[in-house]
Order: sequence, then C-alpha cells, then structure tokens
Amino acid sequence: MAEKIDVGLEFAYRFLHPKHTVLVSCIDNSGRANIITLAWSMPVSRKPPLVAVSIAPKRYSHRLIEETEEFVINVPTIEIVNETLYCGSVSGRSVDKFKKTGLTPAPAKIVKAPIIKECIAHLECKLHQKIPAGDHTIFVGRIVAAYANEGIFKETFDIKKVKMIYHLGGDEFTTTSEEIIKPQNMP
Ligand SMILES: Cc1cc2nc3c(=O)[nH]c(=O)nc-3n(C[C@H](O)[C@H](O)[C@H](O)COP(=O)(O)O)c2cc1C
Repeated sequence: MAEKIDVGLEFAYRFLHPKHTVLVSCIDNSGRANIITLAWSMPVSRKPPLVAVSIAPKRYSHRLIEETEEFVINVPTIEIVNETLYCGSVSGRSVDKFKKTGLTPAPAKIVKAPIIKECIAHLECKLHQKIPAGDHTIFVGRIVAAYANEGIFKETFDIKKVKMIYHLGGDEFTTTSEEIIKPQNMP
C-alpha cells in the first residue's frame, strides 16, 4: 500500500481535477458581451434542470451575471485551448475577448447573452439562485435551452468525434481518450 502524503491545502482542490472546462458567455445591461473560462461547474438538478458555476466576486463576469441574471455555458474543444486559456487569463474589464480571440458571438435562442459559435454545445441559463461560498459565489442557473452541433451528441457525447478540455491546474490541460469503459464484473 502506498504511503499517504499530505499536500498543501491551497492545492487540495486539484484532487478533484482534471475538470471539464467551459466558456461562459454573459453580457452587461448595455449589451457588451464577455467570456470567462471556468473549471468549476456542475449539474445539480435534473427536474428542474439546474447547473451551478462557481465564480469569484472579483471577476468582471460576476458583475455581469448579477446584473443581467443570465449566462450561457459553452463547451469548447481542444482546438480552441489557446483561446480558452486566454479567456481565463485576462479580464473583460480591459479587453473585448471576442475581438481579441476571434471567437464568434452568435445569437442565443432565449437569453440575451450570445453563444460562442466555435463551441460544440450550449446551455442557456437564467439565474435561479446565488449562494456565497468563501471567496467564490455559486450561481445556480436554470437551463432554458440546450443544443449541440449535429452528429456529436446522442444521450452522451461521441468522444471519438469531439475532444473536450479538462483543466489539471495552472496552464495545464488534458483531454479524453477514445476508450469507453463499461464495467462487466461488479462485485
Ligand atoms: C482553466 C481555467 C479555469 C478557471 N476556472 C475558474 C472558475 O471556475 N471560477 C473562477 O472564478 N475563475 C476561474 N478562472 C479564472 C477566470 O477565468 C479569470 O480570472 C478570467 O480572466 C476572469 O475574466 P473576467 O474578469 O472577464 O470575468 C479559471 C481560469 C482558467 C485558465
């Protein structure tokens, strides 16, 4: 048996990584759009369909989501990992991340915030609940529209066709293999 070694508590959350990384798009009241990269997101309810994202109050996007009470979770693939790291490294207070990255805003179906065209799947959300949690705020969104690129999703993603981005920590990412494991010998 391997010996258990303590790690610094500031890195302890990385035991829960790699985490599926998403690009959240949001807008301010005047319609100016922004993108924030998030590793901390998760589904939290099926009926109603709710998802949670955890965002630090110092992020510009935090203010936008409080202001407009809506956001879109966009699923990027490894082809846009550079843009994904960029959107998680600079603030929309000082730059237009759509312009700078070349990512394309396109109208969403229900919310005012745009979707990011280069992403493969989109969850349009309206703010359902806001929960302070330490140095972050958990925004729970109610999914009001969900759609993906044709041919890549049928109840689950076709991982032979799409390589999503998983954050290890810092500027390190990984992706999925093409292997699908279906356990046959449960105890
Ligand atoms: C891979 C990655 C994952 C991140 N995950 C989160 C997260 O879950 N929550 C958060 O508040 N910030 C997260 N960040 C940091 C923000 O994306 C970053 O501070 C961003 O520049 C904020 O943009 P804004 O000020 O335009 O909102 C992450 C950054 C990277 C690179």
